[in-house]
Amino acid sequence: MRIGIFPTSATACAAGAQMIIDRFAASPGAVLGVATGSTPLELYAELRTAKAQGRFTLAHSRAFALDEYVGIAPDHPEAYRNVLRAELVGEDKTGLAEKDLVTPDGQHPDPEAAAKAYDTAIREVGGIDLQILGIGSDGHIAFNEPGSSLVSRTHHEALAAQTITDNARFFGNDLSQVPTSALTQGLGTIMEAREIMLLAFGSGKSAAVRELIEGPISQRWPATILQMHPLVTVLLDEAAASDLELTDLYRARWNLSQRA
Ligand code: GLP
Repeated sequence: MRIGIFPTSATACAAGAQMIIDRFAASPGAVLGVATGSTPLELYAELRTAKAQGRFTLAHSRAFALDEYVGIAPDHPEAYRNVLRAELVGEDKTGLAEKDLVTPDGQHPDPEAAAKAYDTAIREVGGIDLQILGIGSDGHIAFNEPGSSLVSRTHHEALAAQTITDNARFFGNDLSQVPTSALTQGLGTIMEAREIMLLAFGSGKSAAVRELIEGPISQRWPATILQMHPLVTVLLDEAAASDLELTDLYRARWNLSQRA
């Protein structure tokens, strides 16, 4: 893992956006994996600015979401399709076309069938080139909650109580309004992305980040499977990095990689 520790989330997102801009300049038709949650919002804002300045476009690309709530009203602003549409779709955003934003079908009467179809759709485009990830405070990525399979495919997952509590802020702080399950790319699916960029900011993520980078690989902290991926960049602010032991080493390695 390449680990970048930045003074602020804004500087981390600027660096992350530049990596994406460079990647898509080299291969304009690349497939982008997109995350929801509050963490990538500054990154998406950077990409919109770059689009407005003519330095970036997703006009020739497809974007696949990591996950979608099951049973949420299709017009609910917190349905992940709607969140991603608002952030990314359109000439005034990143240039991504609506038809090229692909999200799991949370309305499907048979969620497992919808999950299977989603996994197939990813494979049919040849897989995801660059996957953006956040991380839950309990170590989940997408909605792969603690104790779930490290090799899973896209599936229907029950949300952990911690995740429901964490996400209540998007639902007027009303726990009863938070969906209790979701369709999520599995860890096996995510691990097939050719490159991964994980972002984590704030002290609420420091325990999950410590396990992600320095903990043993375990279903207890699902993100730890990323230790087995050959090309992962983790972008942190100081608060998210505050529980790490080997920060001097990570900083030295990062500086070396920036000179290469
Ligand atoms: C959500 C999403 C994840 C996200 C995580 C952290 O529930 N399913 O993809 O990474 O939880 O969210 P946030 O960035 O708001 O802290």
